[in-house]
Amino acid sequence: MSDSNLTTNAITFSNWRHPFKLTSFQLASTPLDNQVLVKTQAVSINPVDIIIKSLYPPCIFGSSDKVVGGDFSGTIVKAGSKTSFKPADRVYGSVFNGFGISGSFSQYLLIDPKNAMFFDRIPEEMPFIQAACLPMVGGTALQVLETYKRPLKDTNILILGAGTSVGYYTIQLAKNYYGVKFVASTCSSRSFERVIKAGASKLIDYTKGSTHEVNDILEAVKGHGKFDVVIDIVRDTSLYPYLDKILKTKKEGGMFIEIRALKNMDYKGLGIFSVTPPWRYLWEYYKSLLGFSSFEIAEISDDRDDKFGGVIEKLWGERKLQVAVDSVWEFGEYAQAFERITAGDVKGKVVLTVD
Ligand SMILES: NC(=O)c1ccc[n+]([C@@H]2O[C@H](COP(=O)([O-])OP(=O)(O)OC[C@H]3O[C@@H](n4cnc5c(N)ncnc54)[C@H](OP(=O)(O)O)[C@@H]3O)[C@@H](O)[C@H]2O)c1
Repeated sequence: MSDSNLTTNAITFSNWRHPFKLTSFQLASTPLDNQVLVKTQAVSINPVDIIIKSLYPPCIFGSSDKVVGGDFSGTIVKAGSKTSFKPADRVYGSVFNGFGISGSFSQYLLIDPKNAMFFDRIPEEMPFIQAACLPMVGGTALQVLETYKRPLKDTNILILGAGTSVGYYTIQLAKNYYGVKFVASTCSSRSFERVIKAGASKLIDYTKGSTHEVNDILEAVKGHGKFDVVIDIVRDTSLYPYLDKILKTKKEGGMFIEIRALKNMDYKGLGIFSVTPPWRYLWEYYKSLLGFSSFEIAEISDDRDDKFGGVIEKLWGERKLQVAVDSVWEFGEYAQAFERITAGDVKGKVVLTVD
């Protein structure tokens, strides 16, 4: 190791054939003017971290080591002169990039804050573990609601998959930031208590089957009127045949918003078909896009939203943000932590602490 380098241990993957492993890298110890050097304190696992590894065929991407992960929290060790940060600042963010080559699951990170998907100071009194949980799923929740592009105050929304982390923050932002009036949501009874605390008014147990789910949603419509927005986080296609009974038309201001989720939310045996959208969704989406549908069907945009840090700071300061942590593992226990996600019944984020 030269004086200008430091050694960092990282969790890496090569391709779908090989398991995650610990690897040591050399990193420049002095950031460029536009960079910061961060000592990582905690990272959280997102489904996409597992999906990306599962989609890396050895024939195309070879067996070079790539650092997994996106979300992190940590402390600035050194800051370049052209950044607005200084040593000892507590920061959190996401360095996720589609190909997962330089992820966050590493003891040290060299980051250009302006190029990161998200990078900001941690709100006062928010612990590192909670901060590491928020960037990807909280940021996606904000993007989902921003996709509506109209005021959400006093609207009725339905969230399919409120037991997911994205759903959990979508409810909280909808109620506590945008002033949504009524939130109905599907989740299993395991998540009822957490989802009610987050702000949902009506819960529908999807595990009882799609007929029960649809009937329960139709009941909610009788009481509260058609939904202004339906948000699908789990690729649930059971509602498409009933859109005219559930969702306001485009003319009435209605929108169906879909996020790029796994089919069946099945983290085991992942392959290319796990991430291809269901035909029923594609049919409705293109009908809407080409003007053959009275409903507006939208995909969330993936643009970086610079509002996110401010929104989190506001809600945390007002004590209107709850962060769900499923479990906390030491860095060396990464294999068990990834297994916890593939088991498919997490209740919040799975976090690794980094020493
Ligand atoms: N930018 C993007 O497009 C973007 C960003 C982030 C995540 N995603 C995707 O969004 C999805 C959710 O991510 P996440 O991290 O929030 O998930 P997660 O926390 O891993 O969600 C797991 C939970 O989903 C619930 N669930 C499973 N099947 C369901 C179903 N059929 N209906 C309703 N709920 C169901 C279960 O909760 P209960 O049974 O307890 O209700 C389960 O515990 C993933 O597919 C992820 O890849 C996309």
